[in-house]
Amino acid sequence: MAPAEMLSLCLLVVLAAASASAQEINNRFPDGFMLGYATAAYQVEGAWNEDGKGESIWDHMLHEHPEWGWNGQNGDVACDSYHKYADDVECLVNASADAYRFSISWPRILPTGDLDNINQAGIDYYNNLINLLLANNIEPLVTMYHWDLPQALQYIGGWPNPIMADYFVEYARLLFDTYGDRVKWWITFNEPSVFAGGYASTGGQAPAQNAVGIGDYLTYYTVINAHARVWHLYNDTYRATQQGYVGITLNSDWAEPLNASSPTDQEASERSLQFGLGAFGHALFTAEGDWPPVMRERIDANSAAEGRPRSRLPTFTQQEIEYNRGTTDFIGINTYGTGLVTLGETGSIPSFAHDQGVIVSRDPSWVVGASGYVYHVN
Ligand SMILES: *[C@@H]1O[C@H](CO)[C@@H](O)[C@H](O)[C@H]1NC(C)=O
Ligand SMILES: *[C@@H]1O[C@H](CO)[C@@H](O)[C@H](O)[C@H]1NC(C)=O
Ligand SMILES: *[C@@H]1O[C@H](CO)[C@@H](O)[C@H](O)[C@H]1NC(C)=O
Repeated sequence: MAPAEMLSLCLLVVLAAASASAQEINNRFPDGFMLGYATAAYQVEGAWNEDGKGESIWDHMLHEHPEWGWNGQNGDVACDSYHKYADDVECLVNASADAYRFSISWPRILPTGDLDNINQAGIDYYNNLINLLLANNIEPLVTMYHWDLPQALQYIGGWPNPIMADYFVEYARLLFDTYGDRVKWWITFNEPSVFAGGYASTGGQAPAQNAVGIGDYLTYYTVINAHARVWHLYNDTYRATQQGYVGITLNSDWAEPLNASSPTDQEASERSLQFGLGAFGHALFTAEGDWPPVMRERIDANSAAEGRPRSRLPTFTQQEIEYNRGTTDFIGINTYGTGLVTLGETGSIPSFAHDQGVIVSRDPSWVVGASGYVYHVN
């Protein structure tokens, strides 16, 4: 979900009810298909500083820069799901939801990001939510990280700092220990290529660090390593007793060649998907692992042309490549639309857009903004 889409759970349910109930929609899917609804902590919880919660990078940024919020809004209150979670679960019941995907606010549980201060009120909040969902036969799908890093960890650099993987593993261990007896579906990261953009953002995307074409790739590297470590932690220590699944949710718009019969537009389409879905998917889902070769080649070449002594794209060690690949029990896909792509120079130097080197347009007759979610269990 884009930050600007401050979605209300009840609003979603009303929209669904206006056309077809979830039960009616469900009847069109195979047995065992789970139809549900999804939110993110910052977008729905509110209670940004209540009961011991720490500040997140979104709290921090939108308090410093209210003008960057959509229509001046922020997540201070949002849908007030921190107080109204029981109403939200009732909405889910009313909509015949099989599943509810929500995210845990890291700073609500660990206000400094570290284990020095475990906030019991935050622990209790998610216990209550999980228990109420299960009491209503709604499967909880839990996202560990949906863009709301504790600000305390941003003060030491946030995701471009590879030590963030250590903090994330410790946070994940606490979640498995605390909720893993009941939560069987874990999503480590939501849309990492989007939140990595916060390190290439001049404003509007937390933490707005403006390290374009550098901080975003450093984030990719930390996040891939952090995801794999959490999957291994679960596989080695928790899976035998908890018997759940650990995956990741990636976003990728589809890319159609602008001219379907043009070889260069076909190349643009493939390159766009490699830089999008492939930036995380290649390391985790392919047999060879590592970055997509086209990313490695282009970012290395651009970095050299810019006069840099090293590539802006970090290098995985062989050990990391082998450790990271195959560390997913399922994939989540968020998709918002399709672009028509052709090769071309675009973006500032350096930048992801310039490295990718494709120009995207949209067919104005297409509807953009739908969000889909697809699971595949290995
Ligand atoms: C759920 O449905 C019941 C029965 O229609 C209704 O009274 C109640 O207000 C609904 N709950 C919410 C939270 O919308
Ligand atoms: C995952 O755990 C299983 C069972 O302990 C083990 O056999 C397997 O080697 C582990 N996978 C990896 C990639 O470590
Ligand atoms: C599409 O690409 C093909 C192959 O390069 C070319 O022959 C054709 O003229 C192109 N069509 C348009 C509308 O540009």
